[in-house]
Amino acid sequence: METATKLAGDVKDIALADKGKRRIEWANQHMPVLQLIRKRFIKEQPLKGIRMSACLHVTSETANLAITLRDGGADLVLCASNPLSTQDDVAASLIKDYGIPTYAIKGEDNATYYAHLAAALDHKPQVTMDDGADLVTQLLTKRSDLLKGVIGGTEETTTGVIRLRAMAKDGTLKFPVIAVNDALTKHFFDNRYGTGQSTLDGVIRATNLLVAGLKVVVAGYGWCGRGVAMRAKGHGADVIVTEINPTKAIEAVMDGFRVMPMNEAAKVGDIFITVTGNKNVIAHDHFQNMRDGAVVSNSGHFNVEIDIPALEKLSTSKKEARPFVDEFTMKDGRKIYLLGDGRLINLASAEGHPAAVMDMSFANQALSAEYLLKNYKDMKAQVYPVPEHLDQQIAKLKLDSMGFQIDKLTPEQEHYLASWSEGT
Ligand SMILES: NC(=O)c1ccc[n+]([C@@H]2O[C@H](COP(=O)([O-])OP(=O)(O)OC[C@H]3O[C@@H](n4cnc5c(N)ncnc54)[C@H](O)[C@@H]3O)[C@@H](O)[C@H]2O)c1
Repeated sequence: METATKLAGDVKDIALADKGKRRIEWANQHMPVLQLIRKRFIKEQPLKGIRMSACLHVTSETANLAITLRDGGADLVLCASNPLSTQDDVAASLIKDYGIPTYAIKGEDNATYYAHLAAALDHKPQVTMDDGADLVTQLLTKRSDLLKGVIGGTEETTTGVIRLRAMAKDGTLKFPVIAVNDALTKHFFDNRYGTGQSTLDGVIRATNLLVAGLKVVVAGYGWCGRGVAMRAKGHGADVIVTEINPTKAIEAVMDGFRVMPMNEAAKVGDIFITVTGNKNVIAHDHFQNMRDGAVVSNSGHFNVEIDIPALEKLSTSKKEARPFVDEFTMKDGRKIYLLGDGRLINLASAEGHPAAVMDMSFANQALSAEYLLKNYKDMKAQVYPVPEHLDQQIAKLKLDSMGFQIDKLTPEQEHYLASWSEGT
């Protein structure tokens, strides 16, 4: 049997652990579904002895998932899935208080980011857990020697699922991956309410702008975009949506938002927030047309939604105006403000999704890992949905924890719904 390399981790400052521990405990209070799963995992040990490498945003909520996996018997190593999203105190506490090797430093450069991914892979994972598919991509392209030991993986976010589906289509993917993102109890809530609230929180913490009365341009009206637009409206903003999909665009119109192409929106917007999962959504010509003082930010997975090299080329100077706010002076004197280096602003300048919403997302992660270990022999190198019964179970547990009850089908109703001859 192969033994994993013993790894201690790499964090900013281990002395931050006490603060991190308090944050982890606070998040735990708001994650009742994960608590129930953890209790069962402690008893049943479904992940016993399994080497797992997880590449996730290292936040207090993720810490509670990591502890749940460890308590379920997994031999776990954690690394950051984004150079700017790590909570350094949480990373320190994971090592010091919970003995989970963690490789994550907020603001790490690209070389360190990839060194941390490599360290997580040195663990020789049997199960991978990704947020954006970086771990799987590295495994397939750089560490194919490790592939024979891999049973399968899970994926947290939309962009990762898109990358994995492309890999499965051209035969590059070599093991099954469960698309946690696609569970209803994930994207209905995490992408919409989690990203919605925390993105506005990130923009506000970075800028301290009064959102009321401003024109907020939301690029993309998918799950995240709906949430961001809804919360910006709640703050009193005049919300403009840009889309490329007519169905999503008509939905935005009927939800009460103005819809226009980015070329038009660029001229009038005060705050821009991209959540498309696409690249160069705000590009050269848009910057040329923006108003003096425009604030540009992204909450999509990668920092490619805003064409930052174009902004740099168009400007004569750049300085830090405030933490997470870079001021670009354009050739004609206009100022454009870029938040958080164009990286997920809800994680860069705020704390990411609130624990109550990550409770369901990470319940999906924990149950999907368990499911994978029970079923991988019958699974192919494809992207699989989270089984519906797990999704329903998580929704039910969440409702119970919030003190809400719902009705049950009567036998008569069950018969009615199952029969085509009724209702005439
Ligand atoms: N910030 C966070 O914490 C967080 C949380 C969940 C997901 N995400 C990321 O946010 C992104 C969006 O996720 P989602 O679940 O909303 O995806 P989605 O597929 O539901 O929505 C994306 C929308 O963007 C639109 N779009 C694509 N290209 C566009 C363009 N050029 N201009 C305007 N609209 C365009 C699509 O038509 C679609 O409606 C992904 O990268 C995802 O990984 C971030």
